Amino acid sequence: MEAQIESLRAEALAAITAARTAPDLAAVRLKYLGRTGAIPLLSEGMRDVPKEAKASVGKALNALRAEVTSALEAGDRALASAADEASLAEVDLTLPGIAPLRGSIHPLTQLLDRAVRIFRRMGFALADGPDIETEWHCFDALNTPPHHPARNELDTFYLPDGRLLRTHTSTVQIRTMEGQPPPVRIIAPGAAYRRDEVDATHLAQFTQMEGLYVAEAVSVAELKGTLEFFFQELFGTGTDIRFRPHFFPFTEPSFEIDIRTAALGERWMELAGCGMVDPAVFEAMCDRRRDRVYDPETVTGFAFGFGLDRLAMNLTGVPDIRMLVENDLRFLRQF
Ligand code: DAH
Repeated sequence: MEAQIESLRAEALAAITAARTAPDLAAVRLKYLGRTGAIPLLSEGMRDVPKEAKASVGKALNALRAEVTSALEAGDRALASAADEASLAEVDLTLPGIAPLRGSIHPLTQLLDRAVRIFRRMGFALADGPDIETEWHCFDALNTPPHHPARNELDTFYLPDGRLLRTHTSTVQIRTMEGQPPPVRIIAPGAAYRRDEVDATHLAQFTQMEGLYVAEAVSVAELKGTLEFFFQELFGTGTDIRFRPHFFPFTEPSFEIDIRTAALGERWMELAGCGMVDPAVFEAMCDRRRDRVYDPETVTGFAFGFGLDRLAMNLTGVPDIRMLVENDLRFLRQF
């Protein structure tokens, strides 16, 4: 019996070494380890082994089975890695790869990021408020009485519950002062909504950037200096800036700001509204807060606001404002 075990061992290992393919190896496995294979068959001979020898013959049979099994496994692994190598032989590592698709930052977001960075350097913090607003935050608190044309149903998206989609980001001035005492120095970029007929220069949803600075003795000079610095940083030092008297309900005096610069084609462009916060706005805040920290006798402030979409359009030479929101990759990939 031991001689048989030894010769079966030699034969099986030789067959495993000789197998060149996975089916070859499977056939060897079947031949030696299958249910009616050589090793199980030999094990049946255990019956006739004398009692004293059973232990050592059994041990030798187990060793044979284990050795053949592990040789088969090693054979499987060797064949698999040879197959891997063969398939890699056809791969040309010097070929250029497939470049991953890379997104780009939307031109409006690029402009917004630049604007935010400039104001942050001047100590302005980011603030925000809800797009769905109360009439009070959008109009009353901003000294805009019920008969004012801005409140017209034809200009504003009213919700059935009386709230509305904010028509400007000036609401964030109010939200901020409600939540904190002066000094306040914030910018608030965000969406604004108007019932405008959508065309090449109008969107019903657009992007504005609001600013507010309230402290003791804030002056028109600071308003001018801050916005001049901002626009010079944004467009370059050769930029001309002019302030024209204007009217806004929530500022007094109020101005419109025009810019003339190479990047915008050297013609005057009206870009922003601004002014000194109207005392009526501070009074509304005192009523609301039930304190006098925004007493117009002790604090003053300036505010400003401008739209970013048309600015982005002019800076990038985009002919139609709708392109900014259509998400056409052929357009967006250019930036
Ligand atoms: N809210 C104004 C608008 O949407 C823009 C504006 C003007 C904002 C003057 C201000 C400001 O803060 O002081 O047309």
